[in-house]
Parts: sequence; structure tokens; C-alpha cells
Amino acid sequence: CGIVGYIGTQEAVPILIDGLKKLEYRGYDSAGIAVLENGIRVEKKVGKLAALEESLEGITFTAQTGIGHTRWATHGKPSDENAHPHTDCTGKFAVVHNGIIENYLHLRDRLKEEGHEFISETDTEVLPHLLEKYYRGDLVEAVRLVIQQLRGSYAMVVLCMEEPDKIVAARQDSPLVVGLGENENFLASDIPAILKYTKRALILEDGEIVVLTADKVTVFNRSNHEVDKKVFEVPWKAEQAEKQGYEHFMLKEIFEQPKVLRDTVRGRISDDNSSVLLKDISLGREEIKKIKKLFITACGTAYHAGVVGKYVIEKLVRLPVEVDIASEYRYRDPIIDPDSLVIVISQSGETADTLAALREAHRKGARVIAVTNVVDSSIAREADDVIYTWAGPEIAVASTKAYTTQLIAMYLLALYFAEIRGTLQGSEINEILTSLRQVPGQVQEMLNDTAQIQDFAGQYARHENAFFIGRGLDYTVATEGALKLKEISYIHAEAYAAGELKHGTLALIVENMPVVALATQPALLEKMISNIKEVHARGASIIGVALEGIAEMEEVSEKVIYIPRTHPVLTSVLTVVPLQLLAYYMAVARGCDVDKPRNLAKAVTVE
Ligand code: G6P
Repeated sequence: CGIVGYIGTQEAVPILIDGLKKLEYRGYDSAGIAVLENGIRVEKKVGKLAALEESLEGITFTAQTGIGHTRWATHGKPSDENAHPHTDCTGKFAVVHNGIIENYLHLRDRLKEEGHEFISETDTEVLPHLLEKYYRGDLVEAVRLVIQQLRGSYAMVVLCMEEPDKIVAARQDSPLVVGLGENENFLASDIPAILKYTKRALILEDGEIVVLTADKVTVFNRSNHEVDKKVFEVPWKAEQAEKQGYEHFMLKEIFEQPKVLRDTVRGRISDDNSSVLLKDISLGREEIKKIKKLFITACGTAYHAGVVGKYVIEKLVRLPVEVDIASEYRYRDPIIDPDSLVIVISQSGETADTLAALREAHRKGARVIAVTNVVDSSIAREADDVIYTWAGPEIAVASTKAYTTQLIAMYLLALYFAEIRGTLQGSEINEILTSLRQVPGQVQEMLNDTAQIQDFAGQYARHENAFFIGRGLDYTVATEGALKLKEISYIHAEAYAAGELKHGTLALIVENMPVVALATQPALLEKMISNIKEVHARGASIIGVALEGIAEMEEVSEKVIYIPRTHPVLTSVLTVVPLQLLAYYMAVARGCDVDKPRNLAKAVTVE
């Protein structure tokens, strides 16, 4: 879910709506605002933010203080009643909340016995009622008493009719940032919401309570002491959170890849391409030599980047790597010891499952490196070391530029370790790094002409099923290609290791089934061509993806997309680009809402 708050001298409603628009990627099944205007006034509506905007048309607001919320349902279906803000029986408090109050049933039963009436099915509604119960004329004190009752995660923001000069918020395991302005202050779950107004932010930590007035921000810790917070200067530009003429954020972000890949490489390769400079991590050479096992854990697209990481690290560093989906890793009691290194990957740095996996790794004594895109995010702060991807704000729910920058981080880490552990010769490192420097330009080359892919997308868009096949690194990219297509076009797609098809799944290959066949690994080309023939013989319609000059692919495919030649270990960054475009154009052809696919949210801060 996304949260915003404003207190200052401007009209609050347009700022709240604008902030929610920037956060819509965090959830979009209902939205609402509460403003202080002759008491508390709440407006909320099921559906995307546009539905709320429509319902506000013609209403004049003058309020200069308010809070807002865009929801991704967990407890209770999307509906007007379940939308935030929620209020108490007296209408004195309005609350927006992100997270899950795990003991809400118990709290609700108790409150009901005491005479409180509930109108929604949400866990959040206990919060205003608890405030009503504990309020004795001091909102900060009431919030403190309420959070002592809670189990679970929350970023909650409160308005109180009797203290109209302030907004009070608290955080536990759900992100919340304060934007500092001149005679105005802001609150948001994520930086894009405040970027237009200020670049000076305070990042709240677990257990903290913040009080915002128009000209002051005060933060208290768990022991009720005022904390002197460091001001964080946001490194992003406001335009980066805008579409800049592109039809969708996803397309803009695909086209930003050459730049952000360059940004992520910059300063991390020596001028003569002889070594990786990872000043980011404090892990010493001797410690790197001692590592016996590596774990990579993440969710969604970041997990797919982790699988590429496994292939690359095992190949170049000869270290065993296990990759796990974060929500599995945490509960399967993995065998981690102090000689293990755990890498967590997360674009947002806030994914609850990944954060929980990080904590589990720490609990078991492992050291953790985070690969993340958001400076000072929860994951960045809790990890021992951070390798930042410099992708800039990623707004589209389907991840593209974050994924390719995560791949760059995996390559850099693998080559850094390979050099220290002596598993690659200097000349091999030099060869791979020289090629790596060319990758952003090669991605640009591919983006210069997308007409062929648009054409294919139009031809295949009416299908309801597709397969993505590949071997080795191509298989790992196939999983991401299939995910992209599923996420935004709702075409069911399955990625398969090409050699495994014949062990069962070939049964699903029927006449005209689209099969995207990735064949960029020279060592596996012959075997891959045989696998393509197997599906071709069963009537599949094949879109091949191959390195430039591989003429054999023309014979077995209906269509071939060529990618520029590079070192075989680096192909994944290039191969995924046409798959992103294919998913994008197919979704557009089907009339899907590309940036906001149904049921998904970009940053999932609940487990
Ligand atoms: C959500 C998004 C995915 C994303 C995953 C991990 O489920 O819908 O697109 O890959 O979370 O997000 P993270 O921010 O941790 O990379």
C-alpha cells in the first residue's frame, strides 16, 4: 500500500492526490484521503485512483492538512468500506496504514465488547478505535499506547480533530519517509511521492514516532527520547518519476536501460579493464577467500536475477551457490554457518519476505550483502554491505531496468570474487570486463529498432499460452521472459529448461503454440537446435533469439531476433531486452493496463 501525508500552507488535496499517483504502483484497488476541514472529512473509493479523483470532482476543499492511501488488499476485499482512511466511532481520528496487524482479531473482539462498532473487514480499523480508547488529550501519547498493543507490521499515519496542527505517524517493519519543506512537511511510503516538492528527507526507523507540524518535525524513539535524525539528500531528479512522453512507465524504463547500466558500471571497473573496484563492500580479501558457500535470496524478478547470479558465480568463482525464493528460505531452516555469505536482492529494499530472509541469515550468523536500488531502504540499512544498482526510480510494476542492473551487480560481484580467489586468469577477467563495458551500448543498439518485435507481438497477442525455452544461462533468462509476459499480458507462459521438455511438458506443445527459444550459448547451440526441432515437429511456432550470425536458427524458427555478440557469460543482459519488449507490446495489443497489472503491487511490504 502507499501512504501520503501533508501539512503546510498549500491546499492539501491536490498534493495528496499527486503523491498517491506516484505511489499507485504500491497498490491500486482502492484509494482515499482524510483532511482536516471543520472536523475530519474522509473521501474514499474502490478502484484505481482515477475513481477517487472522479468522485472528488466539483468538491471544493480548503484544507491544508491531510493524509491519503492507495490500497493493495490483504484483509478484506477491495471495497469502499475497506478502503483507507479508517475512522473511530466519534469521527475524531482518521488513520491510514500499511502492513498487517497480526493480533487484530483479538483486539477487535475486545473493542467490540467495550462497545466499539466496526464497519470494515480490515485489520486497520482497530487502530482508530484504539486511539479513541487511549486518547486523553495528547495524540503522541495515545499513539505510543496504541502501538504497545500491536503485533505485526505498520506504517500508520494519524489525524486527530482535536489537534489540527499536527500529523503523527509511527513505523514498524513498513517503510515511511518524511519530506522536509519550507513551512510545509510531507510523509510518504516512498520517495517518488515527495520528489516534486523536496529532496530533503528523513528515513524513519522501526519503533520511531514522528510528529509533523507545518514548520517542525520531531522524531521520538521507543524510549520516548527525541532523536536527532540525519537529513538524507535524495539522489533522484523529479523528472525521473514522470513518464517524459512515453506511453507507459514500463516502456520508458526499458529505454532507460543503456543509461542506468552505464551508471551501475561507472566507477566499478578499473580504467584498463583489469579489475573490478567494489569499494561498496567492506568484506576483506581474506574473508572472501574463506567463504565456503553462498546463498542468494529474493522475490519475483529479483529472484530471477539471483538465478543468473548462481550460474555466473558458480562458473566464474567455483563457489557453490544456492538460490531461494525469500519466503521459502526463511522457513526451510537452511544450513548457514559463519563461513556462508548471503546475498539478498531487492529493487525496493522493502520487500517484507526478503527483509525477513535477511534477518534469518543474520540470526544464523551469516554476513549479508544487499543488492538494492533504494539508498537507505530497510534492506540497505540492515545488511552488512550494500551494492547499489543505479537504476533510478522504477515505477512500472513489472521490473525491467532494475533487473538488468541487478544482473550487472551479479557480474561485478562474481568477477571481484574470481580475482580475489584466483579462479580466473587476468586475461579472462580483462576479456569479460572489456565486453561488459560494451553491453550498455549494445542494449542501445537493440532499442534503436523495435519495429520487428512490435510486429511479432501483434501477430502473437491473441494466444493464451506460450513457452519460453533455453539451456544454461538462457534458461534463467527464459524464466524472466515468461514472468514478464504473465505479469502484464495475462497470457499464461511457462519457462522450461529446453532439455527437460521431452520429459513431460512436450505434451502441451500443440499446433501454433508460440515458443520463444533462446539460443545464445555457443557451447549449447547444437543441443538447443535439437530441442527446437522437437517442438517444431509438434507444430509450435518458434520465435528464436540468437547471437548475430547464427544462421542455423533461421532454419528452425519462424522468426529470429538477433542480439549483438558478447562474451557468452554476459548474454543475459542483452537477451532479456527483446523479451521485455515482446511482453510490453503484446500487453498493449491486448489492451492491458501495462503499468498497473491486476492484483499486483510493486513493493510488497507484507509477508
Ligand atoms: C513484487 C513485484 C515484483 C518484484 C518483487 C520483488 O512482487 O510485483 O515485480 O520483483 O515484488 O521486489 P523487490 O523490490 O524486492 O525487488
